[in-house]
Amino acid sequence: MPRLGVNVDHVATLRQARGGSEPDPVAAAMLAELAGADSLVVHLREDRRHIQDRDLTLLRQTVKTRLDLEMAAEDAMVKISLTIKPHYVTLVPERRQELTTEGGLDVAGQKSRLKRVVAQLHDGGIPVSLFIEPDADQVKAAGAVGADFIEIHTGRYANAQFERAIESEFQSVVKAAQLAAKLKLGVNAGHGLNYVNVQRLTTISEIEEYNIGHSIIARAVLVGLDQAVREMKQLVSRPAAASRAPRG
Ligand code: PXP
Repeated sequence: MPRLGVNVDHVATLRQARGGSEPDPVAAAMLAELAGADSLVVHLREDRRHIQDRDLTLLRQTVKTRLDLEMAAEDAMVKISLTIKPHYVTLVPERRQELTTEGGLDVAGQKSRLKRVVAQLHDGGIPVSLFIEPDADQVKAAGAVGADFIEIHTGRYANAQFERAIESEFQSVVKAAQLAAKLKLGVNAGHGLNYVNVQRLTTISEIEEYNIGHSIIARAVLVGLDQAVREMKQLVSRPAAASRAPRG
């Protein structure tokens, strides 16, 4: 059954808005797990704009499912991850001025550096996922540098406005997922997914995990985190399994 990873960065964003201690992303992570999250995701950014080192330490001690640390492929971050030892690491591109992670990692353009970072994380026993655009060259490069998974950046699909564009972006995700599975890479997907657009993606049987943050936390403000996580969990776990099942 596909899994739901809940990203709690935005809980920390709200806390940082006042520089105090509330709301605590660690408490949110616990509630998300109780509501059915299969993993917790946090992005420790170089500028520490939301998640702090303290959050990561506490999450590693308290998360009962799996902790996915998103981070830039930088030496300082590799050092932190080798100390904290999350269940896995997702390498993402990072630019200081961006509002969120805009675009995937250019794996094809920095193979030797990423090969080294993936190897360092593997030496520490940490599986590695690479956050990439649904592009054949990037998928092949992810396989070549030794990644265990890819996470397909679904931003272009999520932002597409009209049916023809949505279908075209959807097909790119399908092709990337199929190629990755052929190369024996695990397939995750995330970015910009919400309670509406995730449904079509659940028809892609290769996708094993959906990593979702903003839409869940936004809904949680109105209906509570428990309900927001439960509703998303239900959407990702009744996929398309139904439509793939034999009829008659
Ligand atoms: N996956 C990755 C690798 C991300 O960087 C992000 C954004 O932090 C997400 C998933 C979640 O995206 P969103 O907040 O748009 O659901």
